[in-house]
Amino acid sequence: MTDRELIQYAIEARKQAYTPYSHFQVGAALLAEDGTVYGGCNVENAAYTPTNCAERTAFFKAVSEGKRKFTAIAIVAAPEGAPLRKTAPCGVCRQVMMEFCDPESFRIISAASPEDYEVYTLAQLMPMGFGPADL
Ligand code: THU
Repeated sequence: MTDRELIQYAIEARKQAYTPYSHFQVGAALLAEDGTVYGGCNVENAAYTPTNCAERTAFFKAVSEGKRKFTAIAIVAAPEGAPLRKTAPCGVCRQVMMEFCDPESFRIISAASPEDYEVYTLAQLMPMGFGPADL
């Protein structure tokens, strides 16, 4: 799975975003170590705080289907009707990544299109992060 293909998957996943409150639509595509891809979108809620980000939707789908190891995630986002922009994952999603990913090798692909993207490791976006290795 190339970065380009993973971004395209995230663009498709974003089409299911449920965002009646923020109208900010996010799509994610999570690549498991075995090559399986899990899409995710943000799912908002009238009570606001139960809202789930696209990245965590993808993680929880994958973990609920037995996957525990991941190599990369592509993220695309924009307000409804606007061009995609490079967006970084929120702090809560970074913490969920810490649970299941190697911070030095897990790649976070922040994309505006399949051709225009930046790649960060989890360690770069979560310096001194707390994870299972600390317990
Ligand atoms: N959101 C995500 O899905 N992922 C992020 O990394 C940032 C924020 C969602 C949550 C909410 O539905 C909307 O974007 C505005 O915060």
